[in-house]
Amino acid sequence: QDMEVRVLSPAPRMQQDQQRIIDQVAHDVRSRMSGDSSHDWWHILRVWNMAKRLCELEKADGFVVELGALLHDIADWKFHDGDESMGPKVAREILVSQSVTNDVIDHVCEIIATISFKGAGVPTPMRTLEGKIVQDADRLDAIGAIGIARAFAYGGNKNREMYNPEQKTVLHDSKEAYFNSGSHTINHFYEKLLLLKDRMNTEAAKSIAKSRHVFMETYLEEFFEEWEGTT
Ligand code: NI
Repeated sequence: QDMEVRVLSPAPRMQQDQQRIIDQVAHDVRSRMSGDSSHDWWHILRVWNMAKRLCELEKADGFVVELGALLHDIADWKFHDGDESMGPKVAREILVSQSVTNDVIDHVCEIIATISFKGAGVPTPMRTLEGKIVQDADRLDAIGAIGIARAFAYGGNKNREMYNPEQKTVLHDSKEAYFNSGSHTINHFYEKLLLLKDRMNTEAAKSIAKSRHVFMETYLEEFFEEWEGTT
């Protein structure tokens, strides 16, 4: 037997295939992202990078994590009248076209179907470590300086008020109530953004979330002081 044959073992070839698939999916996703600047390609790129960082710390399956991060907002229900089946459907089409194996496709689609925040009182558990990582990466992009910018970009797109002191904070017990709330953007901090640090799955994400959370609290204090004209 020729030793050189062994150099071409299946494992490295598989890695190369996986990298090629990830590159092509990234290219495809970039051309399809059409949301506002809260859900554009740059959001996907930040989540993808954060997911890779968490994946290395957590020793998860990088192929599933990267595909999940890239495809997690491919047809976001918030932009499709609350239809949650669109995302997994479009993701499956893309992955089938890349000849990804069925078990990976099912895993990635499960992550996409279950990732979203759906209201303060609605649990959104992730079954696998790979899902937990993608969910954490997505939620880290919803808090801190970037999270604040994204909240106002989304609110602007939906024509919402920045703030309305006459509207009390509302926390939602169902996905429908959360989806239909339409309240001002400052309320979004209380109905979602300030709750996220306690809903991170991995230790690494919990630690990153801490400083981003403190930054949002400082931001809100300043916002209210300027609103009242006391600073
Ligand atoms: Ni997202």
